[in-house]
Amino acid sequence: MYSQKVFEHFRNPHNFGSMDNPTVVGQVGNLACGDVMKLYLKIEKNKQGEYYIQNIKFETLGCAAAIATSSVVTDLAKGKILTDAMEIKNEDVVKALDDLPAVKIHCSLLAVDALTEAIYSFYQKNNQPISAEFEQKHNRIITCQTRLKH
Ligand code: FES
Repeated sequence: MYSQKVFEHFRNPHNFGSMDNPTVVGQVGNLACGDVMKLYLKIEKNKQGEYYIQNIKFETLGCAAAIATSSVVTDLAKGKILTDAMEIKNEDVVKALDDLPAVKIHCSLLAVDALTEAIYSFYQKNNQPISAEFEQKHNRIITCQTRLKH
């Protein structure tokens, strides 16, 4: 059964909708169910010269858990510098929702993967150094997406 938090985010998702002129977009699909999530990021530099997520919005075609987890990921990521946003994990999303049914854990991965892909694309476009760990994460997501297309 879903927690009260999941219902709240599902009924009133935060940062829902598209964005005009986003800096980058992260899009992923879920191999298991066919659902799709799009995450729009506006990235700016703060006073310390670090890139941070000034604004974030999402569009999700998916189940209640996918919408609730997307909403939570936007809350967790908004205002964070990119290196901190990259540290957001599946477990953080599940915890923020007071748990998810085990069969729905894959839905939280969708939102975290979309965030990873958006940040990866920003790093690539701006010639930022990409760590081996980050490259691996991206490759895992891309492999799933490629399988999804076939
Ligand atoms: S069942 Fe598709 S993302 Fe949850």
